[in-house]
Amino acid sequence: MFPENRMRRLRMRPKTRQMVSETVLTQNDLIYPFFVNEGIRKRKPIPSMPGVEALPLSEVAKEAKRAEALGIPAVLLFGIPAMKDEEGGSAWDENGIVQKAVMEIKRVSDVAVVTDLCLCEYTSHGHCGALRKGKIENDETLRLYAKVAQSQAGAGADIIAPSGMMDGQVAAIRAALDEKGFEDVAIMAYSAKFASAFYGPFRDAAESAPKFGDRKSHQMDPANVREALREMELDLNEGADIIMVKPALAYLDVISAARREFRVPIAAYNVSGEYSMLKAAAQRGWIDGERMIMETLLSIKRAGADMIITYHALEAAEMLRGGSK
Ligand code: PBG
Repeated sequence: MFPENRMRRLRMRPKTRQMVSETVLTQNDLIYPFFVNEGIRKRKPIPSMPGVEALPLSEVAKEAKRAEALGIPAVLLFGIPAMKDEEGGSAWDENGIVQKAVMEIKRVSDVAVVTDLCLCEYTSHGHCGALRKGKIENDETLRLYAKVAQSQAGAGADIIAPSGMMDGQVAAIRAALDEKGFEDVAIMAYSAKFASAFYGPFRDAAESAPKFGDRKSHQMDPANVREALREMELDLNEGADIIMVKPALAYLDVISAARREFRVPIAAYNVSGEYSMLKAAAQRGWIDGERMIMETLLSIKRAGADMIITYHALEAAEMLRGGSK
């Protein structure tokens, strides 16, 4: 009780604050996502994500090296093909854009390469799988995902990250990888991926918005946390090495529930909408952008994430290196 207890005692000086700090954010916690676009020859700014550019293949190796030099252990790749078709066939092309990007990075850098596995960037209709009468056919889609996984692993990906939310996708991908001798390629499962408005800017960047309908037949209802834990449990049983919660900020409770429930590595995806709303406010001078980035990332770590996928990765790593906060 007061006056014996005074919480401010340990807050008085920087050093004592440092002693009682419970959560530390480092470059190790970050994964840097970027877009490789087959149809461009120069870096192309993404209007709805200030500071983010889609990269031509020729810039990819450099970008990965920048991340590695800043101490970031992994990059996450999204491919935007020059041609889209009904099936999304360029997703499993050996010479597809993501496959080439992985090979480019592997030539020059030791950074861990994670590849997003979905079909929405590759299909003309923008849906995540094979359409039959306007609906995504789950099991047919799994056959396509298996081919994509094999081709990404064949190009040298270290970790495959299926984001399509099809039932059984982790098991199908694990089996497909093992069948081709890729038993050491890991799976980062987008397990609790919610049907979120926070993906808006990404869909501009990846040119992947669905041409009709939405993604609610597979992505989760934002209201559900028990169901999120069940998705994670299923993915672990199917062979996921890392589970993910996405988006991060509006779902910190889901991250902390996952942390209590499971002993496996947990990733959180600080998605495009979270990035853009912070940047937009910072550009107007309404908030202190740098401090808000660090506070945001710290909160995701404190909630229980072991790794954070964030478009802020490079600037955050620079700030961490500079020791500022
Ligand atoms: C699907 C995918 C999406 C994101 C990552 N993987 C988009 C979607 O589900 O519509 C969103 C990432 C972000 O918003 O930053 N390939």
